[in-house]
Amino acid sequence: MSNALKEYIVTAQNRVERALDLRLPSEKILPHKLHQAMRYTVLDGGKRMRPLLTYCTGKALGLDEAQLDAPACAVELIHVYSLIHDDLPAMDDDDLRRGKATCHIAYDEATAILTGDALQALAFEVLANDTAMNTDSLNRLKMITTLTKASGSQGMVGGQAIDLASVGTMLNLPELENMHIHKTGALIRASVNMAVLLKTDIDPVLAKKLDHYAKCIGLSFQVKDDILDEESDTATLGKTQGKDQQNDKPTYPALLGLAGAKQKAQELHEQAIASLSSFGKEADLLRDLSLYIIQRTY
Ligand code: IPE
Ligand code: IPE
Ligand code: MG
Ligand code: MG
Ligand code: MG
Repeated sequence: MSNALKEYIVTAQNRVERALDLRLPSEKILPHKLHQAMRYTVLDGGKRMRPLLTYCTGKALGLDEAQLDAPACAVELIHVYSLIHDDLPAMDDDDLRRGKATCHIAYDEATAILTGDALQALAFEVLANDTAMNTDSLNRLKMITTLTKASGSQGMVGGQAIDLASVGTMLNLPELENMHIHKTGALIRASVNMAVLLKTDIDPVLAKKLDHYAKCIGLSFQVKDDILDEESDTATLGKTQGKDQQNDKPTYPALLGLAGAKQKAQELHEQAIASLSSFGKEADLLRDLSLYIIQRTY
């Protein structure tokens, strides 16, 4: 990983951690257990890849970091909600996440469902109310629409539905790609596109190129997630390795083999880089991030 990205990851992780902490209700406020579970699942964990993408896109467009805190928090809150529900017994049935007990294990199933629900609501409250975003109401509405679409039945939730319906079946490549683009790609794309919306005078051609970059890395991110599930280990991942095979999920390695899946990730990275050809050095962190996504070890 480049030194510039290594340094910026730490900056962005610290920044979003503080911003999330500020926006999450205190455990001292009723209902204590729900607020405790929200803080337990959101704080101090995860790579923060989606916030990082929002900040790096903002950097490429010359935006202020303070403007980006709300979209960075909002997308991470939706992501954590999706993980909590993904880990439930009715879905992937996992008891380890980010190196600690999943929400329904640390608390109980009802609390895990409600924690996800509450994090989702908070995500949109943050986007609706944050004053530091420094943008007008219409543009705020566009950002909210971007995140709702990416989250709902034609985005992440739709992808999760396809995932569950596909257990035990063999999808073909276009079907598998469609599932991944929805369940994981949609939120990653929204991480980039919400920052793009804050740059109101952006050339639409450049906005389209950034969207295409995000589409490529959104897919490569899940291809790599599938690869890691097969070849990494539980301690490194902070989640149980080998669950896809155990749950009979269609994945890229299952369809193409590990070498084929790695080749696919590499091709998507190259496409992502090509999408940034109109940008100069200001997009170097985005370029580095694309490489990091396919080279990461967890
Ligand atoms: C895991 O996401 C679930 C997927 C969508 C693949 P991450 O790998 O970003 O998980 P954290 O946020 O770092 O824990
Ligand atoms: C999860 O995909 C995607 C979402 C949570 C929306 P996975 O089920 O592969 O994620 P992990 O491997 O449990 O993190
Ligand atoms: Mg899943
Ligand atoms: Mg899972
Ligand atoms: Mg996985």
